[in-house]
This record gives sequence, structure tokens and C-alpha cells, in this order.
Amino acid sequence: MAIKNVGVVGGGLMGSGIAQTAAQSGYNVLLAEVNQELLDKGMQRVHGAWEMLANKGKITEAQAEEYRGRIRGTLDMQEFADRDLVIEAIIENLDEKRTLFRTLDGIVQSGAILASNTSSLPIIEMAAVTNRQERVAGIHFFNPAPVMKLVEIVLTIATSDETVNDLRAFAQSLGKTPIVAKDTAGFVVNFLLIPYMLSAIRMYENGLATMEDIDTGMKLGCGYPMGPFELLDYVGLDTTLYAAEAIYKEYPDPAYAPPTLLRRMVQAGRYGKKNGKGFYAGAEK
Ligand code: 3HC
Repeated sequence: MAIKNVGVVGGGLMGSGIAQTAAQSGYNVLLAEVNQELLDKGMQRVHGAWEMLANKGKITEAQAEEYRGRIRGTLDMQEFADRDLVIEAIIENLDEKRTLFRTLDGIVQSGAILASNTSSLPIIEMAAVTNRQERVAGIHFFNPAPVMKLVEIVLTIATSDETVNDLRAFAQSLGKTPIVAKDTAGFVVNFLLIPYMLSAIRMYENGLATMEDIDTGMKLGCGYPMGPFELLDYVGLDTTLYAAEAIYKEYPDPAYAPPTLLRRMVQAGRYGKKNGKGFYAGAEK
């Protein structure tokens, strides 16, 4: 199936990055949000990224103009009827995602793919509320979506081979390398990454080293571009907590149990870079 029209639901960090990447790669993109303020924010993020790339000389002004012409924002889900692929990137709440999938299933043309960018929730639970389980899959991008080269394609027990092949081709057309994972909590990357970040928090909580030294250790000792605390702030402490809780629910192994400090940070409203308060902006010393 040839994908031409792409819909992205959710204009947050991930949704806007995915929409940007798809528009840059030649797709006709529709970005949906629940209210005008959030939609404006999402569209501004996309336009701001192209402005930054044009200022850096990475793209021409003419290219930026062309990209802008390929993306449009909407508050009206009915406009998704002609989409060939819809990517959901709303908050990590299963009830909300299921409601959205039910709505999309009733609107989007039959045969189109409905995909979720969830980092750890079961895709089959979203597929189950639709009448097209074989056309539902996960398509998990990494932050920052326009830059990170990996896309995880997550197949449920009901996803068809055709859907996996269509999504693989789509990811490649965005310049990404797809890997295929089964529909188990954390898929491939977060199943390995989350316990690593949680271990770093425990190490700090137990007073074994400073955050700065743990970060320096992993950057200089292992060549990681960011240390675990920088990455936690970057990915979002709330996002990390939700992912850890979802994986722990499926694999009640202590390695996946969110440390108290992470809970307290989120309870205190410290979400990391997204709201300017995280481990590096006032964590308990
Ligand atoms: N669109 C296009 N290009 C962009 C961009 C955007 N929105 N934002 C940044 N870029 C480009 C920049 O132009 C720059 O290009 P250049 O190197 O050619 O000049 C390049 O990306 C790097 O940007 P910066 O120079 O601003 O920053 P750094 O060199 O410090 O790199 C980083 C930043 C890429 C974020 C790097 O630190 C990194 O790789 N960090 C690790 C990120 C990571 O691990 N992400 C995965 C998190 S896990 C996850 O997302 C899963 C979830 O489910 C939890």
C-alpha cells in the first residue's frame, strides 16, 4: 500500500517531531490536537525547527517553505478520513488511547493503518477496540524524533505481515532504520534503557556518587552522548515513570520498580527539560 497522507494525533514533543519528519520526507501531514493553544504550540515547534535548520544553513529557505506547505493543523478529527496512516502520540494513558483508536476506526478509511507511538503500553489493547486489528501496530520513535535514526515497529499477535512491511517501508522513507519488536512492555529499547536509568537514580539515592559523576562516568566511560540524568531530564521524568510502571506491571522484577526519588520528582511537578525542572534544576542534594 502506498502511504501518501499521514495523520499525527498529539502535537507534543514526540508528535510534532514525527509530523516534522514526515513532512520533510514528502508526506502530506495533518497534525491534530485537542485545543487551539496546544495545536499552535505543536505547529510552532515544527516551524521553529525548520527555521533553526534554515538559519544553520542545513536547509534552504525554499525547502523550508516547501515543508511548511506539506503540514496543516486541525482540531477536527473528521479530517482524518483520507489518511493512509495515522500515528497516535497523545499522553501515555491507555483509556485515552483506546477512546482515540475507537474514534479513529470510525473515521479513517478502511485499510489505513492506525499506529501508536506509545513507549510501553500494550498495542493490542488499542487494536482490540477497532475493527481492523490486522492494520494496527506500534511505531515507536525516539527523542528527538527528527534526529534519532531508530524506529521500533511493534507487532501484536493480530498485526498482518502487510502492515509490518508497509511500516518498515515508511520508516525507511523517513531515513530511519526500523527494527521489529513484539508487543511486550518496553519493546526492545526501553526494556533495556529504563532499568539502566532507574539504576542510576538508585545509585544517586543511595549516595554512591554524585549525579554529575554518574553522568560523566557513562559519557566518558561508555561513549554515551548523554549521561543517565541528562537523558532522564531530556526524555522527561513523567514519561520515564509511566514507562517504568508499565513495564513493572508486566514484569514485576525489582529492576523495573520506579525508585521513590523518581516518584517524588514527578509528584513535585518536576518533569525535566519539558518544564525546566528536573534532576539538573533542583533535585534533592
Ligand atoms: N530537526 C532536525 N534536526 C534537528 C532537530 C530537529 N528538530 N533538532 C536538532 N537537530 C539536529 C541539529 O541541527 C544538529 O545537527 P548537526 O549535528 O548536523 O549540526 C543535530 O541534530 C544535533 O543537535 P545539537 O547540535 O543541538 O545537539 P547535540 O550534538 O548535543 O546532540 C542529541 C543532541 C542528538 C539529543 C544527543 O545528545 C543524543 O543523541 N542524546 C541521546 C538521545 C537519546 O538517547 N534519545 C533516546 C531517548 S529514549 C526515547 O526517546 C524512548 C522513549 O520512549 C522514552
